[in-house]
Amino acid sequence: MSEVARLFDRIATRYDLANRVLSLGGDLRWRRQALRLLPPNDGLLVDLACGTHDLGLAALRAGVCGRVVGVDCSPGMLASGAAKIAGAPVQAVLGDAQALPLRDSCADVVTIAFGWRNLTDPIVGLAAMHRLLRPGGHLLILDFFRPDRGFPRCFDRVVAGWALPLAGRLLAGDGPAYRYLHDSMGRFLSPAEAEAALAAQGFTGLRRRAFAGGVALALAASRPGVGR
Ligand SMILES: C[S@@+](CC[C@H](N)C(=O)[O-])C[C@H]1O[C@@H](n2cnc3c(N)ncnc32)[C@H](O)[C@@H]1O
Repeated sequence: MSEVARLFDRIATRYDLANRVLSLGGDLRWRRQALRLLPPNDGLLVDLACGTHDLGLAALRAGVCGRVVGVDCSPGMLASGAAKIAGAPVQAVLGDAQALPLRDSCADVVTIAFGWRNLTDPIVGLAAMHRLLRPGGHLLILDFFRPDRGFPRCFDRVVAGWALPLAGRLLAGDGPAYRYLHDSMGRFLSPAEAEAALAAQGFTGLRRRAFAGGVALALAASRPGVGR
């Protein structure tokens, strides 16, 4: 099992609670509002790094897909989300988002929320997302990008760098895992680099929405081609 999978296994049982408290309930709203960047659809949505399935379930409610395959490398995160998907058209798959045994162009929509940052190589991950999408399909990414300036940079220094590890220790019993949030943001792409990577991969029609003054950002784009 990878280092990242072990880290998320450690915090899996308290992941949802920690998210709700640390974002003051905002994370659910961010996912809902990010999904508004996608058109209505009744096809297949592949949710990469799905964790406990919050995005896939919100996508079904929003009418941007008819069924979901959620992929995650942490057995603990999938186990924590299992009760939430009971009875819903959601299939959970244990696997690496960068090497999926899913066929090319199988998905109408591909999503990844707060997970792109965690992939070993974001560009390899982006190529995998492009491969999964059918021509005319849509990609939605929601994440904390590397803050270059302004309020997001202050948030990174003061909140993510100091307060989050403390709160993570109190809420999830694991400060280092929440220190990782700060470290992974620092190593990640800036918003401008992410947009350039999407264009270089061949995605078009970029749409964006910022949350909490730009601390979190949703990017949606399409794989060119004829839709269903
Ligand atoms: C911050 S959580 C986000 C979970 C969920 N998408 C959400 O919105 O709450 C990041 C997730 O990415 C998963 N992950 C990290 N690297 C991965 C990889 N290479 N393949 C699949 N999942 C991965 C972790 O196990 C974890 O569940």
